[in-house]
Amino acid sequence: MSNVCVFDHPLILHKLSILRDETTSVKEFRELVSEIAQLMCYEATRDLPLEEVDVKTPVAVAKCKRIAGKKLAIVPILRAGLGMVDGIMAMVPNAKVGHIGLYRDPVTVEPVKYYYKMPPDICERDIFVVDPMLATGGSASAAISFLKEDGAKHIKLLSIIAAPEGIERMQQDHPDVDIFVAALDEKLNDHCYIVPGLGDAGDRIFGTK
Ligand code: PRP
Ligand code: URA
Repeated sequence: MSNVCVFDHPLILHKLSILRDETTSVKEFRELVSEIAQLMCYEATRDLPLEEVDVKTPVAVAKCKRIAGKKLAIVPILRAGLGMVDGIMAMVPNAKVGHIGLYRDPVTVEPVKYYYKMPPDICERDIFVVDPMLATGGSASAAISFLKEDGAKHIKLLSIIAAPEGIERMQQDHPDVDIFVAALDEKLNDHCYIVPGLGDAGDRIFGTK
């Protein structure tokens, strides 16, 4: 699993334990999703290219580094991915945001596309596709295929919890995409929910159940 990063940072693990808890309120759940995304962003941006700049301090000129070239695009998979956007934007405030609307058909569990809107220069940006749950991998794989059809080349996937099935699907369909997850869980259940997981991420973020 060379392109999969499973976080072991104590802050992420602590927050994830509260996130999973079925008694956690909608408000706290939403805050935790955002905070975990912010912490994951720190590691996922580690290889952004830098350029040297001279900065005049009140004392002298300092040789500094700034992020070079085009910056990031964050692409949440609606709905649940929206919960991760603010946390990442807090770290990368100039990022543009594209939206992909997908839902899993409850019977076939196949992704159904209902919305797609990207920044015009999406193919020149480093893209973070964000979705808290990577279950069968169908949604993430489809979203990334749509982006590649648009010319996107540099894509990373940030998910809070993944199932082994989702990782395998991603590695088959998109071996070029690095995957960052806060936890790799045991399996999927008969309804393709992640076990132990955290339930339905979208419903818990938006209080729709
Ligand atoms: C959830 C989740 C992912 C998808 C993961 O979304 O947020 O997008 O399921 O499942 P997969 O890996 O098997 O495709 P859902 O379809 O429930 O829609 P929602 O975000 O609108 O609740
Ligand atoms: N979508 C969710 O929100 N949770 C799961 O466990 C699987 C898919």
